[in-house]
Amino acid sequence: MNSRSIRRPSSLCRLNSSMNILGRGAEAVVVEHDGVVVKERLKKDYRVAVLDERLRRQRTRRESSILKKVNALGIPSAKFLDMDDKTMEVEMSFVQGKKLRDVLDNHVHFAEQIGKIVGKLHTNDIVHGDLTTSNLLVHEDVVSVIDFGLSFISKKVEDKAVDLHVLHDAIKSRHYDVHEECFNLIIKGYSHSNPNASEVLERLKVVQSRGRNKK
Ligand SMILES: Nc1ncnc2c1ncn2[C@@H]1O[C@H](COP(=O)(O)OP(=O)(O)O)[C@@H](O)[C@H]1O
Ligand SMILES: [Mg+2]
Repeated sequence: MNSRSIRRPSSLCRLNSSMNILGRGAEAVVVEHDGVVVKERLKKDYRVAVLDERLRRQRTRRESSILKKVNALGIPSAKFLDMDDKTMEVEMSFVQGKKLRDVLDNHVHFAEQIGKIVGKLHTNDIVHGDLTTSNLLVHEDVVSVIDFGLSFISKKVEDKAVDLHVLHDAIKSRHYDVHEECFNLIIKGYSHSNPNASEVLERLKVVQSRGRNKK
């Protein structure tokens, strides 16, 4: 940790009125203060303490290292600032903008940018793991991707196809009226930015038919 982060009032117990709570999910609480976002992974009382700590430490480290990679690739996202694997915090810049969840229905064209981003992630073997329109922000026509909490590195075509499948399902359930148009644009963008797109898209068909057979 550098000195800047030691000074920062990040932990939950130090939460105060000048901080904005951006999210409080099952896994983490996300707060913003002066343009800096702190994501803190919460203790789970139902997990054995030692395992819980190991899991949170592993996820905190992984999220940090993937965010650094994403920054190095120039993919629009939060800038990694710091991490602390004792307090289980990742510190990053605040990304301005609205969630695509709230604007996609009326601005379907952003879907092509989503596809380009995912294609670039996959070309670099980054599987996001939680591609939903809540983890995509848009500001001044630029789409950013956030929340690498479930991300991992994989060369497997299957993992990339499943990542797209999750995105497809998220768009279908949240943006039903425009989901077909959106997904076509996603595929268009994806095909531009991932040289191995056809292989992943072929596998996506298999993943989807597997899903249908299960129902
Ligand atoms: N760097 C950031 N800049 C702006 N908003 C953010 C940032 N990180 C998270 N958020 C907001 O907080 C919410 C929750 O953060 P996220 O990393 O997605 O955690 P969770 O794992 O709980 O979904 C996001 O949907 C987004 O609205
Ligand atoms: Mg999220």
